Amino acid sequence: MNKDFNIKSLIRPNVAKMQPYSSARDEFKDFDSEMVFLDANENPFETDVNRYPDPQQRRLKEIFSKQKNIPANQILLGNGSDEVLDLIFRAFCEPAKDNIITLPPTYGMYGVLANLNDIENREVLLDDEFQLDLDEISRTMDTRTKLLFICSPNNPTGNLISSEKITRLLNNFKGLVVIDEAYIDFAPQESWISKLNEFSNLIVTQTLSKAYGMAGIRLGLCFASAEIISVLNKIKPPYNVNILSQLRAMDHLQNVQNFNDNVSLLKAEKEVLLKALVEVNFIQKIYPTDANFILLKVDNAKKRYLQLLEKGIVVRNRSSQPLCENTLRITIGTPSENKKLIATLKELQK
Ligand SMILES: Cc1ncc(COP(=O)(O)O)c(C=O)c1O
Repeated sequence: MNKDFNIKSLIRPNVAKMQPYSSARDEFKDFDSEMVFLDANENPFETDVNRYPDPQQRRLKEIFSKQKNIPANQILLGNGSDEVLDLIFRAFCEPAKDNIITLPPTYGMYGVLANLNDIENREVLLDDEFQLDLDEISRTMDTRTKLLFICSPNNPTGNLISSEKITRLLNNFKGLVVIDEAYIDFAPQESWISKLNEFSNLIVTQTLSKAYGMAGIRLGLCFASAEIISVLNKIKPPYNVNILSQLRAMDHLQNVQNFNDNVSLLKAEKEVLLKALVEVNFIQKIYPTDANFILLKVDNAKKRYLQLLEKGIVVRNRSSQPLCENTLRITIGTPSENKKLIATLKELQK
């Protein structure tokens, strides 16, 4: 437990003071019962979607609460985890005054959101093994450092970040540590959600866009102390998760077997790809991965990217990221897509 941590001192003063918007559905919650709803200026004629969605997504949260083993008041849902990340900035960072720490090479949205919210982004590079440089991080933080973003497994490198180092940060940092677990379902490690009771400065984000196969419905998850979640709830747009997304997610989440089968298949396919990639002569390094993608160092990333594109395969050139010169990031596809990738890479060797 971090004794120096005080959530109240981290909340932006205007957010702490403000009255949240109270929607019609906040004031009358029991909209399952047979009532006449004349409170929200909706169109009364049935289209399946003529009513506003539940602003608190209670049924969906009940399912996540059971599956993730955490009380519903420690869950916030958003329009993708990108919205959740933006809410975290707006709740805790004072524009033009506060700063955050990000750890490149990593997910680009942390820096974009910092710019958007006029927050200084202090970058501390990961080390040669894409792990945390704790000394440099502690030299970089000051009393106005509100957030530190750790992506684990990290995008674009694919590796998990050492739990021991994260624990040291959680014990010493006076701001909030956000662990982005977009790829955790592919990793051989349990989620940091299980440590939320131990660390009051921990926020964990996840998404239905990756292992759950639902990028199109835009559903992101945030897990933290009830206190942090209530601050985020206060500032979120009232109906931020639409009714179609809520229904599709509930439907999909019932089928746990399908989820498990899908993740197992992608992990097995990753092993097949890893074996095949070793034999491609212009691939110089295959970075260890705990995610559903592989980062490769090649002889000439731009050339290889364009060659693949010409053959109808789109990968991501990550060379612009620090420590990632001449790298390509390749997502694990279906078995037939992966076969096509391997065949094409072999053809390009000639
Ligand atoms: C590390 C990481 N976090 C978050 C996201 C965004 O997730 P969402 O689709 O839930 O907005 C991505 C998407 O690529 C990601 O790689």
